[in-house]
Amino acid sequence: MKLWGGRFTKETNALVHNFNASILFDQKFYKQDIKGSIAHVTMLARQGILSNEDKDTIVNGLESILTDIENGSLLISSDSEDIHSFVEQTLIERVGEAGKRLHTGRSRNDQVALDMKLYTRDEITEINALLKVLMSTILKIMENNTETFMPGFTHLQKAQPITLAHHFGAYFEMFKRDRQRLFDIYDRMNYCPLGSGALAGTTYPLDRELTAELLYFYGPTLNSMDSVSDRDYLIELLSALSTIMMHLSRFCEEIIIWNSNEYRFVEIDDSYSTGSSIMPQKKNPDIAELIRGKTGRVYGALISILTTMKGIPLAYNKDMQEDKELSFDAIDTVKGCISLFTGMIDTMKFNNEVMESSAKNGFTNATDAADYLVNHGVPFRDAHGIVGQLVLYCINKNIALDDMTLDEFKAISPVFENDIYDAISLKTCVEKRVTIGAPGKEAMNKVIEINKKYLEEN
Ligand code: ARG
Repeated sequence: MKLWGGRFTKETNALVHNFNASILFDQKFYKQDIKGSIAHVTMLARQGILSNEDKDTIVNGLESILTDIENGSLLISSDSEDIHSFVEQTLIERVGEAGKRLHTGRSRNDQVALDMKLYTRDEITEINALLKVLMSTILKIMENNTETFMPGFTHLQKAQPITLAHHFGAYFEMFKRDRQRLFDIYDRMNYCPLGSGALAGTTYPLDRELTAELLYFYGPTLNSMDSVSDRDYLIELLSALSTIMMHLSRFCEEIIIWNSNEYRFVEIDDSYSTGSSIMPQKKNPDIAELIRGKTGRVYGALISILTTMKGIPLAYNKDMQEDKELSFDAIDTVKGCISLFTGMIDTMKFNNEVMESSAKNGFTNATDAADYLVNHGVPFRDAHGIVGQLVLYCINKNIALDDMTLDEFKAISPVFENDIYDAISLKTCVEKRVTIGAPGKEAMNKVIEINKKYLEEN
């Protein structure tokens, strides 16, 4: 049964029905649809548009539908056009006449706008919570590794020594911004479109403030045409989700490199790795690769909705139904990726000695050797040249700066004394970097405290 059969004399072509229907995917927000309807009839009754008796009958009917969908005794049938039709038809079957009054003062246009907002709001809250678990895991790794030395890279070439805590701390900041973006989106979108009708409001004395309040919105939206055709919050969300995936993908790329036979900085746990059907020795970082791969899919959703929205005249047009599948898919993908990524790093083993010896063998202390000369009066540009010679000498002998004898140092510059060894030790190189944001332990501990507080408060 259709909600709109009255003015039609012919049955809908079967292909048209299937092409037009959204029930296969919009059933995902049955809960939000029912909640919205309960708020709507509660308001209708308070305004005297619906009798209290009818309101109670409808609310009881809607609640029984919700319970039965959740316990599996009511299956959402794909014969209905969409979830709105399914709920309304089921209600009428269950409670009779009163059910036919549910849609008073409402259109599916404001109804779907509401459902999608309610759904998005719930999902933002869930994604935020998942990010928080991820960030707690990162923070735990940071706390345990303020003295785990490793090379920091630029151009994927060893640059200067850092710590594992510092490296993970970079991602903590990224995910912090990701959460802030989600909070911002929530705040901007949290206005209730219900009561906007098809596009021009309604003639009933609806109390839009009340429905907004009942559904925990900050207030009603202020333009009924915009209300039914606004999908900005989805575009913003998909953009924020794309950025989350970009961060996860970069992190995954690093873990794949670190987990490689050549690097061996980390070892992904067996429970988060997979094998090869032909090569018995293989243990592959498939989870990290899949997360990196799924990033494209979330970007695709963003581009897709931007393109769908760009030519739509006011107000509602059916194009907007296309917002659903791609948003649902992107949201589910991101939630899955955050959870899996968290489990992967939580169980990952760090090979501290390998990281430390990699930092030692890559001349990551060359800048500090130059700084040593500067502190002894040598102009920086000359110091740069002298250390360049030291590095060349070491490359030819296949040794590290730390392995040179003092005589060898002095042969290149007489300024070097015995304290050069302490000055270029990894520990000194890192510990001397104490300005906030730098890897030195003192600075790192301050940041860890700030971030702990952030997690307690947000
Ligand atoms: N399934 C539709 C959507 O997702 C619901 C709104 C239908 N409104 C309409 N005028 N056909 O957008």
